[in-house]
Amino acid sequence: MHTDPTAVSIYALLATLFILPSSAYVAQVPLSDEACKETTVAILGGGMAGVAAAQALSNASVDDFIILEYRDTLGGRVWHTDFGKDGHGKPYVVELGANWLQGLGGGAVENPIWTLAKKYDLQNTYSNYSSIRTYNETGYTDFGHLLDVYAEAYQIAARDAGRILTQNLQDQTARTGLALAGWRPRKNDMAAQAVEWWSWDWEDAFTPETSSLVFGIAGENLTFNQFGKANHLVLDPRGYSTIIENEAATFLMHPVRDPRLRLNNPVTDIEYSANGVTVHSNDGTCVRAAYAICTFSLGVLQNKAVTFNPPLPRWKQTAIEKFNMGTYIKIFMQFDETFWPTDTQFFLYASPTTRGYYPVFQSLSTENFLPGSNILFATVVDEQAYRVERQTLEETKDQILNVLHEMFPDKHIPEPTAFTYPRWSNEPWSYGSYSNWPAGTTLEMHQNLRANTGRLWFAGEATSAPYFGFLHGAWFEGREAGEHVAALLQERCVTLHGVETCDERMFYDPLNGTTPLDAYSGLNGWPASSTHS
Ligand SMILES: Cc1cc2nc3c(=O)[nH]c(=O)nc-3n(C[C@H](O)[C@H](O)[C@H](O)COP(=O)(O)OP(=O)(O)OC[C@H]3O[C@@H](n4cnc5c(N)ncnc54)[C@H](O)[C@@H]3O)c2cc1C
Ligand SMILES: *[C@@H]1O[C@H](CO)[C@@H](O)[C@H](O)[C@H]1NC(C)=O
Ligand SMILES: *[C@@H]1O[C@H](CO)[C@@H](O)[C@H](O)[C@H]1NC(C)=O
Ligand SMILES: *[C@@H]1O[C@H](CO)[C@@H](O)[C@H](O)[C@H]1NC(C)=O
Ligand SMILES: *[C@@H]1O[C@H](CO)[C@@H](O)[C@H](O)[C@H]1NC(C)=O
Ligand SMILES: *[C@@H]1O[C@H](CO)[C@@H](O)[C@H](O)[C@H]1NC(C)=O
Repeated sequence: MHTDPTAVSIYALLATLFILPSSAYVAQVPLSDEACKETTVAILGGGMAGVAAAQALSNASVDDFIILEYRDTLGGRVWHTDFGKDGHGKPYVVELGANWLQGLGGGAVENPIWTLAKKYDLQNTYSNYSSIRTYNETGYTDFGHLLDVYAEAYQIAARDAGRILTQNLQDQTARTGLALAGWRPRKNDMAAQAVEWWSWDWEDAFTPETSSLVFGIAGENLTFNQFGKANHLVLDPRGYSTIIENEAATFLMHPVRDPRLRLNNPVTDIEYSANGVTVHSNDGTCVRAAYAICTFSLGVLQNKAVTFNPPLPRWKQTAIEKFNMGTYIKIFMQFDETFWPTDTQFFLYASPTTRGYYPVFQSLSTENFLPGSNILFATVVDEQAYRVERQTLEETKDQILNVLHEMFPDKHIPEPTAFTYPRWSNEPWSYGSYSNWPAGTTLEMHQNLRANTGRLWFAGEATSAPYFGFLHGAWFEGREAGEHVAALLQERCVTLHGVETCDERMFYDPLNGTTPLDAYSGLNGWPASSTHS
């Protein structure tokens, strides 16, 4: 990934032809200026953030941009696959990445992804988190009352988190906040551990110990109090990414053949300065731009999959290493019959030994989903996800069949007719599924993740302070970077959530240990109060 053999050989050739003194000198001179395609804005990555950034530029009449995308398709972490077969031998389509529309219905503001879903008639169904049955190694056993116990503690922890935020007190882990609110399950209380996993880890892809209390809860508030409480599961034969592709088609002349879209174009090196950005790809091509907007995932940045020249400043590297990239894996299986209840959407399993061991199964073989499909999927996160990624499909399948035998002791459990899952931690264009905010990490530290370094800008799910982890976070951040860069190009000021600025993004160096309430503003990417609903 780091060195591209073509580039190396061209350097070597240049060195012999022009007798260049040292490789250090060569590295500073952009490789063959003529070979670089000039553009105004280079957009690095064609996921939700990249497409929203391009659309915002286009809306501001900046039409000279190039999108550089690693894969052969737009959409990024919104990614589907054909799976199994229906009665006519036609495959179903399942979502390997983002699956839900989150924060819908009756909020003061409409979730922009919901606006797009309606615009393109995306097929989706209300996901009823109360439609849940609980199981352990002996089969069905009702520990649903623990869900209410957790929910009561969460309400208290949420209020405490609001007080910590507004009074600029020290952040805590979600574990501390929940414990002070009365929820601290014993290590051997596996029913309570399963309930906690379902209530916290399932969304964050990390344990309460690893998560910020303040920003974990502020994030929940800003999505579900601001936009609405509901979640809808997307099940569309075109795939969830159809909304991203269709939006791209509103500004691209041709969805695939517009020269401003370069698919199959892995970026390897980014040279940046106060005057511009030069981006090299693994096929030896390069693009030189006045500005670049980098939308690569936090995982891509952390795995050093792309080289920055000069190296990113210490304050930026610190922010990149500080935030956490999670892994959330859905394991899909199809059977030749539906042996589980079809009146229930979720099946929570408490393993007797291991927290988070195949803890939740979801039925798609249910009315309004894919009835009659006989498809079930399980979800694992964090350490259990890394474990499953290291195993073969066969090993995982055997473990899951054992769990299903325990959950449904009276049923015959057939061999799955189809079985698959992605390995998000290993994907070289993602290295994980989505980010999470660690405890004791201020808004100013987060602002350093999204701040520009010279003409190189950053956007994406992880750079969203209010909506990290969500698709709408990527949309808002892409739009904001596009609008801000367009304003700088046009020598205008720009209003960010009610605050006007004529400058680049702020960053903090040195970084203080706390962030006062008045810094929770548009200049640090904070859109609204999380403590008032
Ligand atoms: C398993 C999973 C489940 C999720 N569930 C939900 C959900 O239910 N609801 C929800 O709202 N959100 C969910 N998300 C989060 C959501 O998918 C992301 O927040 C969003 O898609 C991120 O968009 P982005 O543009 O920031 O990043 P990306 O989609 O990662 O876009 C970045 C793009 O950059 C490209 N790229 C990377 N490296 C290079 C390179 N070197 N050169 C060129 N291009 C490169 C990538 O291929 C990608 O297309 C989920 C994510 C995953 C993985
Ligand atoms: C671009 O403008 C269109 C039409 O007004 C709007 O629907 C869309 O949301 C805008 N896109 C962005 C990213 O601002
Ligand atoms: C969700 O499921 C619960 C439990 O089965 C049920 O009582 C409730 O009516 C359902 N809600 C909706 C909106 O369908
Ligand atoms: C979250 O919302 C609740 C309910 O509106 C509120 O009491 C609390 O202060 C909020 N917490 C944060 C961190 O925003
Ligand atoms: C599983 O549930 C059964 C029935 O309620 C109970 O007897 C058993 O103790 C539970 N197992 C564990 C590990 O808690
Ligand atoms: C950091 O703290 C110092 C000393 O208290 C203060 O002068 C400075 O303004 C603070 N900086 C920020 C960005 O808050």
